[in-house]
Amino acid sequence: MAIHNKSHYNHALMSLNKNRRDNTLKHKTAKDFTKPDKSMLCLSIMDCCDFLKLLPNESIQLICIDPPYNLELAGWDIYDNYIDWAAKWIDEAYRVLSRTGNMVVFGGIQFRDIKSGDLIDIIHHVRKNTKFKLINTIIWRYRNGMSAHRYFANRHEEVIWLTKSNDYYFDLDSVREPYSQKDLETALKDKRLNPENTIKGKNPTNVWEINRLNGNSKERVGHPTQKPLEIIERIVKALSYPGSVVLDFFAGSGTVGRVCIEEGRHCLMCDNDPKSKTYFNKHIELMRNLGQNTAYTEVQNIKNLFSMLSNEAVNV
Ligand SMILES: C[S@@+](CC[C@H](N)C(=O)[O-])C[C@H]1O[C@@H](n2cnc3c(N)ncnc32)[C@H](O)[C@@H]1O
Repeated sequence: MAIHNKSHYNHALMSLNKNRRDNTLKHKTAKDFTKPDKSMLCLSIMDCCDFLKLLPNESIQLICIDPPYNLELAGWDIYDNYIDWAAKWIDEAYRVLSRTGNMVVFGGIQFRDIKSGDLIDIIHHVRKNTKFKLINTIIWRYRNGMSAHRYFANRHEEVIWLTKSNDYYFDLDSVREPYSQKDLETALKDKRLNPENTIKGKNPTNVWEINRLNGNSKERVGHPTQKPLEIIERIVKALSYPGSVVLDFFAGSGTVGRVCIEEGRHCLMCDNDPKSKTYFNKHIELMRNLGQNTAYTEVQNIKNLFSMLSNEAVNV
């Protein structure tokens, strides 16, 4: 489906639409794209619903969000009726996601009352009120966590992957896990498996064992619910392609933005807490200390990012 919103930066969108018509993304992988010299990043401090209204239709390849769930974990958990509020950004997310795009939502199953929310509320809304397709529910399993005495200690969180169509981009090759030598030899003898794929590694499945960040983790930048780089890297690599636009409208510390710099994606981020900028600068400092490439172009607003992208497309 082409982008119809005539009021928004048409020039950029016309070339994006043309690319979509010419190339179906369904069978492509990262190898079919060139990484941009520098990622473009925008981090706006504002309410997510106001931010989403500024985005053109079908302009985003990957939405990766870790929303608040009103669990009174922090000052930002403050909504009266969770799903009424969440419905606003879910519907806007559907509008801005491209036809081949992917949306990933972190969460958990922890219903308390109408004021709090969880992933079940979100899945229910998505099923009943939107055309999103649920491709996978990923179990994020971790070995570290709080102890408990009145219930079994929690050691997993769920992550849902939604798409707008069956033509979604999915680069399994970029996130395959290597077989051990012994398992590889066994797998190569298995007639049901394609040896070409077997050599590339195995499908990481929908159960991901990745530890949460401990208080003293070297990745920590100070945000209370910061996500590990490893999990965001897997999502960004598999569900977006180099040079595409990734959106996180509950950016927190900006972990998604950091991964976008590493992986050559452009990134739009928003958070209503001004501390986000400080956390993000800390991410950049940590990258620099690790000798990683930290060069990116800071873009002031959404309009600038799409007009710079359209200039690139014209100059190719
Ligand atoms: C769970 S945290 C995200 C953490 C992030 N994934 C990371 O790795 O650092 C959720 C974030 O949503 C932000 N937030 C809450 N309500 C918001 C709203 N209405 N608009 C924008 N951001 C909001 C909070 O300030 C918080 O930083």
